[in-house]
Amino acid sequence: MQQKLRKAFKQQLLYKKIKMEKAGKEKFKVTPWEVSGKVDYNRLIKEFGTERISENMLKGIEKLAGDLHFLLRRKIFFSHRDLNWLFKEYEKGNKFFLYTGRGPSGKTHIGHLVPWILTKWFQDKFNCNLYFQFTDDEKFLFNPELSLKDTKKLAYENALDVIAIGFDAKRTKFIMDTENIKKLYPLALKVAKKLTFSTVKAVFGFTNETNVGSIFFTTIQSAPCFFEDKPCLIPLAIDQDAHFRITRDIAPKLGLRKPALVHSIFLPGLTGSAKMSSSIPGDALFTTDTPKQVEKKVKKYAFSGGQPTVAEHRKKGGNPDIDISYQWLKILFEPDDKKLQKIYNDYKSGKLLTSELKEILIEKVKAFLKKHQVAREKAKKQLDKFILKD
Ligand code: TYM
Repeated sequence: MQQKLRKAFKQQLLYKKIKMEKAGKEKFKVTPWEVSGKVDYNRLIKEFGTERISENMLKGIEKLAGDLHFLLRRKIFFSHRDLNWLFKEYEKGNKFFLYTGRGPSGKTHIGHLVPWILTKWFQDKFNCNLYFQFTDDEKFLFNPELSLKDTKKLAYENALDVIAIGFDAKRTKFIMDTENIKKLYPLALKVAKKLTFSTVKAVFGFTNETNVGSIFFTTIQSAPCFFEDKPCLIPLAIDQDAHFRITRDIAPKLGLRKPALVHSIFLPGLTGSAKMSSSIPGDALFTTDTPKQVEKKVKKYAFSGGQPTVAEHRKKGGNPDIDISYQWLKILFEPDDKKLQKIYNDYKSGKLLTSELKEILIEKVKAFLKKHQVAREKAKKQLDKFILKD
């Protein structure tokens, strides 16, 4: 009897899932600390109340910058808040500054580089100062396994990857939360005075059991938005939006400007996870991986949109839209649109096999990491120049 009930219950769940899939309402979650399920970015725009980046806006940015980064052109950065306002101010002669960051919970993986690469482009094209925050406090508070010593050590490791992206040392300052708290704290306090427990509960799902450091934390991530008396632009992936929804609500109450945001989708993990995850085995590729590790990981784990046999693949073709090797080329490793289109067409028609597509990716990643790792080594000597001295 119980078995029958269980079967009926399972059946019901399955029907519900199919119904939700049909209605485009599959369950997924996107918060600063958890991303799960198949992310529907169109729904995120609606649910978070952001705006889609339009072709018109891209034309405007291209006119001001002289060209357009492929991360914008390909809509990898797909959503924004107040970007129109930011560029209108810029045209009036009111320059903006940049702000982004990293929560040092482990090694840097290549997904983290996506917002940093666009941040560098903005710095180069618009001559901006950049504040880069390392939230060693956040990762200590939210991760029971990590000590403050661990998160600080990881922050300095991660900082090498940030320098390796090529930021201008004269216009870039690193903020290490536990070191630079003197600069952050007065601003964090102003935000904290306007922020209630019920708001953070509603936005982040905190409960009475959440430690009080976590409840306060978003004020620390808000603070750098107000470092300069100028508009602020934050390039980030959409998982971090919630913090700045709060900041933007509070800013006018403090007589301060709301920061503008530009959101990217996630670089998927090798195994096909929506957002690359260091805790799923084989999912993440780290900036310190060796050429051998790159080859092994891509060959073993990269989720493929190919057919089960070569004969079938030649006949039916592959699906680049779900193929991780293709997605990685599109998001990070093949800046040339023509080359990318050819790979897309050849894979779709069955001319290009999965093993050949993986080979293309492996070569691109190896070349990218070789350069990155040389720059990362050099960064060890440059670190001191980047750290904010207050
Ligand atoms: P963190 O360390 O989780 O992530 C650092 C930056 O990388 C983005 N990101 C990704 N982008 C594309 N594909 C992925 N798979 C992927 N995974 C992560 C994140 O959105 C983020 O932009 N609390 C923050 C640190 C922080 C911060 C900020 C981030 C402090 N101030 C201001 C953005 C803007 C954190 O833990 O990020």
